[in-house]
Amino acid sequence: MAIQLTQGPDPRYSLGTAIVIGGSGGIGQAICEALARDGSNVVLTYRRNKARADEAVAKVQAFGRKAEAKPISVENAEELKAFVDDVAARYGHIHSVVYAAGPEIHMKRINQLTPAEWASAINADVNGCFNLVWATLPHLKAVPGSGAFVALITAAVERVPSQDILSASPKAAIEMLIRGVAKEEGRYGIRANCVGPGWVNAGLGKAVLDNEFPPEHVERIKKSIPLRKFGEPEDLAEAVAFLLSSRAKFITGQSLAVDGGGQL
Ligand SMILES: NC(=O)c1ccc[n+]([C@@H]2O[C@H](COP(=O)([O-])OP(=O)(O)OC[C@H]3O[C@@H](n4cnc5c(N)ncnc54)[C@H](OP(=O)(O)O)[C@@H]3O)[C@@H](O)[C@H]2O)c1
Repeated sequence: MAIQLTQGPDPRYSLGTAIVIGGSGGIGQAICEALARDGSNVVLTYRRNKARADEAVAKVQAFGRKAEAKPISVENAEELKAFVDDVAARYGHIHSVVYAAGPEIHMKRINQLTPAEWASAINADVNGCFNLVWATLPHLKAVPGSGAFVALITAAVERVPSQDILSASPKAAIEMLIRGVAKEEGRYGIRANCVGPGWVNAGLGKAVLDNEFPPEHVERIKKSIPLRKFGEPEDLAEAVAFLLSSRAKFITGQSLAVDGGGQL
């Protein structure tokens, strides 16, 4: 079969909508925009920051796609399921699911952590992502061959980062969960992949760079990255948009680090 150049909206996106959990976030907003550009409606969620969610909705609508935002806590499995079922009923189908949420975390050494901080990060991230998989899998399967899942993890899963274990450990668990989904649900045409941000000049990464390190340490981090710069939200969004799209139809169970080479 000849190579077909993809032009115009992804045909899968004419069915229903994408859901972006954490679509109001620094990276989530760019993902919503990229999906709208590629032809998808977007239902996004936020936790508290409605103004940022409204911005993301406006960016999607600017591409002529439908968009709406709803406050959701991923820790609440039943609330999440009710939200997902309602979206599926109103839009007809959910073709893509993005997990771009993540709890606010502070850089700490393991010997400074309390059991409560550890449990809270695991609950918000690992259990939250599982709740999302549980709520959305039946809908992704509803139209054979049309469902794709992408979870944002972290490029730090490839290393043992100092002071970043509250991010790296939950994301390592999420990575294995997503690989499990790829393995068990591939027979239904469902694909599941991860994207691992390195240091990004937005959202959680920017908050840490701005507030938790002195400027000379931030410069040292930048110099340690082969491409000598921090990522932008659109760098992550393009990777997510590709992995969700039909252009990636034979790619599943993979993790793509988008980190300027920072893990090398
Ligand atoms: N930015 C980076 O440098 C970086 C690096 C490595 C990994 N990551 C990962 O990439 C993903 C996106 O990060 P980001 O920088 O875009 O983060 P962000 O700007 O803080 O956005 C996080 C999003 O998740 C929502 N959220 C937070 N806790 C939630 C919960 N318990 N239930 C439901 N929604 C919740 C937030 O809503 P509200 O804003 O309304 O609270 C927001 O929409 C996260 O998984 C993060 O861990 C980011």
